[in-house]
Amino acid sequence: MLFDRQEKNLRDKASTEYLLWLNELEPSLCADRIPSFRELNHRLWAGTGWSIEVVPGLIPVVDFFKLLARRRFCSSTWIRRPDQLDYLEEPDMFHDIFGHIPLLLNPTYADFMQKFGEIGMKYASDEQAVLKLQRLYWFTIEFGLIHERGQLRIYGAGIASSFGESNHIFDDDITVLPFDVEKVMETSFRSDVMQTEYFAIPSFESLYRSLDGVEEHLVNTQMESSGPATVEIR
Ligand code: CO
Repeated sequence: MLFDRQEKNLRDKASTEYLLWLNELEPSLCADRIPSFRELNHRLWAGTGWSIEVVPGLIPVVDFFKLLARRRFCSSTWIRRPDQLDYLEEPDMFHDIFGHIPLLLNPTYADFMQKFGEIGMKYASDEQAVLKLQRLYWFTIEFGLIHERGQLRIYGAGIASSFGESNHIFDDDITVLPFDVEKVMETSFRSDVMQTEYFAIPSFESLYRSLDGVEEHLVNTQMESSGPATVEIR
């Protein structure tokens, strides 16, 4: 039910790349059963060399970065209750799989996620840098929008896996800003409510290329290192 409702809802809202790969994965994501991680891994591995790593809840941020750098995406295994269909603070398996996995089959996006992990590993002990990377993750991988042929479309997993938020982004009272990697890293967010500000990328290629500016910004704004970070990345 979760899958069917959201799949229909996203048809005219999600990025065509996301929809393409969601469709490709559909046999392994059947609506009437728990997705087969073995099948999904088979497809991911054959496509872009990614795989799914099952993790028990939250893991240290450095481990999270390490897994991304090795092309492994963490998934939880719990599923939301019917009364939590619209918005969740903690990611569940529906969010992790339905939201994140399809785009990992896009080669450019797959490379972006890996490189993000590599940068994260380098800066994992710098709390300020981790906070900036968390914001970048938040406004792209979780809540990113993309311009496609004059239309605004969803690619962020946090929006794609939320019925409520995937409709909310078309409300009048939200602000869509042009993607600027430095501005993104300086923009704070709240994880307990729907967003009011989003950033829209022109293409996945430009998202990948924006990582060149990330390290430069981190070095330029580096403050005294303050020990291992405990910031949560979902
Ligand atoms: Co997520």
